[in-house]
Amino acid sequence: MVVCVCNAIREQQVREAARNGSATACQAYRSLGRQPKCGQCIPFARAIIDEERTVA
Ligand code: FES
Repeated sequence: MVVCVCNAIREQQVREAARNGSATACQAYRSLGRQPKCGQCIPFARAIIDEERTVA
């Protein structure tokens, strides 16, 4: 599933970034070489990151 339409970032990439230490959506996007644009995806990205970090 695509999380961020502006950057075409997939859920899988956000999960990977979270496992590699990104604690926020901005950090995760930056680690993927991208940055938030419209910001609509931030709550969704954050939920995924939180989930990944509690599991890990
Ligand atoms: S959908 Fe992610 S910044 Fe627009």
